[in-house]
Amino acid sequence: MTCRIGILTISDRASQGVYEDRSGPAIRDTLRVYLTSPWVEDYRVIPDERPRIESTLIAMVDAGCRLVVTTGGTGPATRDVTPEATEAVCDRMMPGFGELMRAVSLRSVPTAILSRQTAGLRGGSLIINLPGKPTAIRECLDAVFPAVPYCIDLMDGPRLETDPTVLKAFRPKGA
Ligand code: MTE
Repeated sequence: MTCRIGILTISDRASQGVYEDRSGPAIRDTLRVYLTSPWVEDYRVIPDERPRIESTLIAMVDAGCRLVVTTGGTGPATRDVTPEATEAVCDRMMPGFGELMRAVSLRSVPTAILSRQTAGLRGGSLIINLPGKPTAIRECLDAVFPAVPYCIDLMDGPRLETDPTVLKAFRPKGA
């Protein structure tokens, strides 16, 4: 079964065309090298406005995205509200994702602790925040993605298969 995956860039400047979005395409490129099972993307670029972020996350899930990966708006700048919007639309939070991504990113940059990134579940869909820096994308996804296919299995979503030479998905024995 094809998995619909949301890629959501949250950035005032990228959405205004001040600069080209590089983080959303970095998510796409990373998923392309990871995934061997069929998937289609739902890619959108929006400003750092909480109602807009919430309505877009809801629209992506309603459109059938079983996974939504966001980038940007996780820091302490006054406009950064991605984690709040994510929490508002999720019915259950998955704190392990943010914890692991911060731990891994901290090995490269001390400012990793400035990212308030989180993850959560809306119905049977997983929403994961990544920081806005293009270089953070691969680093953060490499850390958490091994657990993503099994998470989606547990919510009766489509079975995601990865290229084991690039990223080995972990499923407990028998799953
Ligand atoms: N994580 C990684 N892996 N690499 C980075 O360069 N930048 C940090 C942090 N996490 C960074 C990172 C910085 S400087 C900030 S302010 C926060 O992510 C939030 O970034 P965002 O508001 O663009 O999401």
